[in-house]
Amino acid sequence: MVSIAIMNAKGGVGKSTLTMAIAETLSAYHGKTVLLIDADGQMSLSLMLMSVKRLNALRDENRSITAWLKQSVLGDHTVDWRSYIVDKVSDVDDASSLFLMPGDMDLTLTERAVSEAHRAAQLRLQVRLFLEEAKQCVDVVLVDCAPGISVVTECWLRECQWHLVPIKPDILAVSGMEYLKRFRQRDERLGFAAHLGVVINMKQVRSQTDELMHELLNGNSELRCFKSAVPSIPHIQKAALFVAEGRSFQNKYPGEAGAAIRSVTAEILTRLSA
Ligand SMILES: Nc1ncnc2c1ncn2[C@@H]1O[C@H](COP(=O)(O)OP(=O)(O)OP(=O)(O)O)[C@@H](O)[C@H]1O
Ligand SMILES: [Mg+2]
Repeated sequence: MVSIAIMNAKGGVGKSTLTMAIAETLSAYHGKTVLLIDADGQMSLSLMLMSVKRLNALRDENRSITAWLKQSVLGDHTVDWRSYIVDKVSDVDDASSLFLMPGDMDLTLTERAVSEAHRAAQLRLQVRLFLEEAKQCVDVVLVDCAPGISVVTECWLRECQWHLVPIKPDILAVSGMEYLKRFRQRDERLGFAAHLGVVINMKQVRSQTDELMHELLNGNSELRCFKSAVPSIPHIQKAALFVAEGRSFQNKYPGEAGAAIRSVTAEILTRLSA
């Protein structure tokens, strides 16, 4: 029923990690069906959610975001996006209602082809049609965007209903936000996702500087900073490593890791329902 683009113009702030963790929480604790889109050619999200072997096999079967874009945007064929989606992703046993449109390293080349063929309008139309249909089938669509505003990322940001921004609590935290704001203001008529808020990730436990930064960001009402921050802890870092034999949510996110992810997810749901 809702679509959220997870994006920050800055890289390495935890976009993919939080996309995965929020999706797993929505599935395991809130019974939500979640469709994840890996919209970054680095494929971090896909690699966090399945084995390299399976990802390669899917690529050979043309089941990836790139295959979908090639057919629907460059090929001008009527294609069913469902044939590019896979189920049984994530190593969390209790998160069984997750679906993924896998990423593909060729995404950047495909984007270039879209630009060269002057198909940007068709790209945006396909993204819109896809989101309209996908929202009828699942509770939440989460799009893990690449950093930087490529033509594909721009489409997700303009077509999704909401934009969630992970940031690190450092002095450059708001620079990515400022950049996006300027981009959005270039032409307001083109539309843009509504700002859902800023989630502080990788907050150093017991760091006075990070605490101060959190307070400063909290004080800026425009940012809509989430009350809960996600600490910088090895368990969340290790969550990126897919475990083939599966594990429970508690096992993947023990203690404060799970508590933080669950608080952020609960806050997202509260904001969405407000
Ligand atoms: N809360 C956290 N605690 C510890 N490590 C974290 C945390 N969040 C993310 N990381 C680690 O930080 C690195 C960057 O995270 P991630 O890939 O999710 O960021 P990103 O914003 O998606 O990066 P990119 O811009 O390259 O797409 C990864 O190694 C990840 O495991
Ligand atoms: Mg990423």
